Formats: sequence, structure tokens, C-alpha cells
Amino acid sequence: MIRFKTTSPEQTERFGHELAKSLCGGDVIALTGDLGAGKTCLTRGIAGGLGSTSHVSSPTFTIVNEYDGGRLMLFHFDTYRLSGPDDFLMSGLDEYFYRDGVCVIEWSDIIDELLPEDVIKMTITGDGTERTFECECSEKHSKNITDAVVNAGAKVEE
Ligand SMILES: Nc1ncnc2c1ncn2[C@@H]1O[C@H](COP(=O)(O)OP(=O)(O)OP(=O)(O)O)[C@@H](O)[C@H]1O
Ligand SMILES: [Mg+2]
Repeated sequence: MIRFKTTSPEQTERFGHELAKSLCGGDVIALTGDLGAGKTCLTRGIAGGLGSTSHVSSPTFTIVNEYDGGRLMLFHFDTYRLSGPDDFLMSGLDEYFYRDGVCVIEWSDIIDELLPEDVIKMTITGDGTERTFECECSEKHSKNITDAVVNAGAKVEE
């Protein structure tokens, strides 16, 4: 488990930007945390780091937004309005996990059982302008995540 803190929305975005540099097609990032935790803020940084110039906002009318124009496609999910994993599967949304792009999923706990084995899970908590990120991932991703934290000027916690 990697734990770190950011102290501003800009720093969260910068972390996403740094992390994006090491992401590969097929990577899935699963985000949990309350309303206003910073899931979209982080996703915006990832989109920018992949090279997309689109403005990222939470998907409102669909479950997933696709962003093009960067090094890899970004598939940005918000599963808040899904009733459960069956709903996700019935809509064929799991197909995105096999596409050559990066998936970022807000409210991923709703589809927890469907997430691929090599998922990067991040839970965001905090208030004011401080956010704590708790990150669970395989060894393959852990160095890249730690590097991104350091490059964003954020603090790794023991
Ligand atoms: N360190 C920080 N990191 C990220 N956001 C922060 C931080 N400090 C303050 N904020 C503020 O918290 C809010 C995060 O909003 P954001 O839309 O990213 O949350 P969210 O987790 O996507 O919420 P929702 O579940 O409603 O989609 C923004 O208003 C942002 O300015
Ligand atoms: Mg959001």
C-alpha cells in the first residue's frame, strides 16, 4: 500500500499528469472517495499527462466519456448511477477493459468484483485542501506511482 498526501487541487492534478507518463494501454485505475474527494481532478491530470487537450468533467449523460488526442485514449467512467455489476455487464462496458487505452473509473466500488487483476486502486479522503491517497497496486505499478508522487512534489507517508 502506498499512502501520500496532496495539499491542493493543482498538486492532485500534477500527480495525475506525472502518473500518466508511465501508463500503458489496458491500464485500469479505480477511484473511490466521497463527493468532492478529487476523483475528477485526478482524472483531469491524467488526461493532460496523456496529451489530451480536452476539458475533463464528470460524465453526466453517459457512464463513460472517451478522450482522444493524446498518447493513448482515455476512457473516463462514472459508475455512480449504476445499480450494480450486472448493469455494467449488460451495457457491455467491461469491453473497455480490453481496449488499447487507459480506463479511469470513479465510484469503482460499485463494480469492484469486475475489476481486472492488475488494477490500480486509489481511495481519496480528506477535507480543506488536503487529500490523502491510499493506493493498492501490483509491484509493476508501484515504482511509477511513487515516482509520480515525488515528481508532483507530494509527500509519501510511511
Ligand atoms: N488536494 C486536493 N486535491 C483535489 N481536489 C481538491 C484538493 N483540495 C481541494 N480540492 C477541491 O475538491 C474538489 C474535488 O472535486 P472533484 O470533482 O474532483 O471530486 P470528485 O471526487 O470527482 O467528486 P464527485 O464524486 O462528485 O464526482 C474540487 O472543488 C477541488 O478544488
Ligand atoms: Mg467526479
